[in-house]
Amino acid sequence: MTGQESPLFAANWKMFKGPRATEAFVESFVSRYRPREDRRIAFFPPSISLEAFVRASADRPDLEVGIQDVHQEVEGAHTGAVSASMAVEAGAKWALAGHSERRREFGDDDAIVAVKTARALEAGLRPIVCIGETLEEREAGLLQPVLERQVREVLAAVPAPGLTWAYEPVWAIGTGLTASPADAEEAHGIVRSAIGAAAGPVFADAAVVLYGGSVKPGNIGELMAASGVNGVLVGGASLDPESFAAICGVALPAG
Ligand code: 13P
Repeated sequence: MTGQESPLFAANWKMFKGPRATEAFVESFVSRYRPREDRRIAFFPPSISLEAFVRASADRPDLEVGIQDVHQEVEGAHTGAVSASMAVEAGAKWALAGHSERRREFGDDDAIVAVKTARALEAGLRPIVCIGETLEEREAGLLQPVLERQVREVLAAVPAPGLTWAYEPVWAIGTGLTASPADAEEAHGIVRSAIGAAAGPVFADAAVVLYGGSVKPGNIGELMAASGVNGVLVGGASLDPESFAAICGVALPAG
């Protein structure tokens, strides 16, 4: 832990749950998870369900909301896209940038991810920059250079302290394979060092680094105990209120 902010438990719903399913989730989740001072919770529903989430959780300000992606332009003729300021208007406080599914399916490269991070910050959103290596990169011994490049490209364009990062090894996303606590510690150490090398020790100390990739109730305890893990970004296991409430309710390591 950096100790500067409470651990963050974030739910990335990807392309699941329209507005009605979102309302049903919130109703069930709030009865299973009570606000706790020592942790933060954020949900990333599909953009069309953002306002439904905000309305359904109106009496639970501890449940924050974000958008899964913003366009790199402020506005314009970009059919199907959503801007950062529109997300703010709908109630978002957070924005993901550079999720590996965006990188793979939509061609978001490091330069685009950097611009999206900047757009989110300018609009008043807190970006979570997603980074991580593919299996091929890991097997080729490229874990460190890939993470360093992804961190450097964003910080060169957006020299903002206190960014939130999500280390999500691509081979662990939706596969049931989880990085071991030792793998997570190693990668989180590399990410923090890369932040320090790119922008200095103040940035490295202030950075929040989440882990993502097949996080479940059964492995959340050991992952949160891993050194340098400041929270998690959960996909599949966040779609079920009982399972995500169990993840958010995990006992945190002392200190
Ligand atoms: P899973 O938890 O389904 O592996 O997804 C992780 C993820 O991509 C979160 O952004």
